[in-house]
Amino acid sequence: MSAAGPSMRHPVEAPANPAKRRARGPLGSVGVARFMRDYWQRRPLLVRQAFPALQAPLDPDALVALAARDDVESRLVSAFGGRWRLRHGPFEAGDVPSLRRRRWTLLVQGVDLHDERAHALLERFRFVPDARLDDLMISLASDAGGVGPHVDSYDVFLVQAWGQRRWRIGWPASRELVAGLPLKVLARFEPQHEFVLEPGDMLYLPPGWAHDGIAEGPCMTCSIGFRAPSRHEFLSAFLADAAESPAGPDPRFGDAGRRPVSRPAQVPEDLRRQLARWAHGWRPGSARLDDFIGRFLTEPKPQVWFERAPAMNATRFAARAARVGLELDRRTRIAYRRQQVFVNGERFDATGANAWLRALADRRRLDPANTARALAEPRCAALLLEWHEAGWLHLSEF
Ligand code: SIN
Ligand code: CO
Repeated sequence: MSAAGPSMRHPVEAPANPAKRRARGPLGSVGVARFMRDYWQRRPLLVRQAFPALQAPLDPDALVALAARDDVESRLVSAFGGRWRLRHGPFEAGDVPSLRRRRWTLLVQGVDLHDERAHALLERFRFVPDARLDDLMISLASDAGGVGPHVDSYDVFLVQAWGQRRWRIGWPASRELVAGLPLKVLARFEPQHEFVLEPGDMLYLPPGWAHDGIAEGPCMTCSIGFRAPSRHEFLSAFLADAAESPAGPDPRFGDAGRRPVSRPAQVPEDLRRQLARWAHGWRPGSARLDDFIGRFLTEPKPQVWFERAPAMNATRFAARAARVGLELDRRTRIAYRRQQVFVNGERFDATGANAWLRALADRRRLDPANTARALAEPRCAALLLEWHEAGWLHLSEF
């Protein structure tokens, strides 16, 4: 990444071309292929009217109501009198200040899990693999509200949903933070670009770009965030999972024939050597790794739970599903590789059912005709019935 920021060959602001934008979706005249080649993970992009006539998925009252729930992650950041303050939800009525009071922001994570319109907005970003998607956060800010200049480790599309927000962005010369604050605010921030976003405008930021969004009047911003696991995050989860189910025999250290010691506190060299050999020699098999990777990438967030559907016999389920079609619950995370399908942190062998389950995973729904064809495969019918009972998919109306 050049410290000087994007070159003129790759303008930060996408040139206007309404005809092309309509054809191509939220990336305007840049288009998905060029965006992924030149901007994704590399440089910021501003797209004016990426979502023409966008309606905020929720109104301010509905967002405040969501922040009152204990299964929803929310934060309130204020800078009253120039003093940063951070509180975590759930928030009771009266905790959230009036929009007439300046300099506060309410941030609500995972709105896509609770609201169908918020979830539908994510559908527009499925040119990136689902496994990279984190969630849709919505912020509600009063005039001059913001969270201060900071850096995120995620890719993010910031879609202005209501009101106006001024964004200042720049590649940070230093990542030093202001000491002693409850949130991460950069000590030195030198913006290189500045834009005021109107409803429907969108700003893409790759990880590592410093940014500061300040509300100009009350406003709402949707952040579509993409996660990338770090090596430590992945390995700590994998090792914890492996520790729960040891594979193969479990030899134990033995020291028959040991001589008496005169320094009992010294680490025994034979014990140290054996433990180090076990550590260096531990090689998880690829089947075990692939199993874990699929489960890891589809693990729901900790606060997600599914309501089980009343049990239905297979014939009745098949008849109803073939009439109305099937759709995945908006909270369901699903991924496939070879003959395996992973759903909400569980692995299923899809041999004999693969094509239809892949179609369901990619489209997140099957129309009635395709549902009938899928149900004609016995393995597919059994899995769909099981997932329906688990609340992972629903009968839908087309
Ligand atoms: C916001 O929406 O207020 C902040 C989002 C961000 O800067 O990451
Ligand atoms: Co940010």
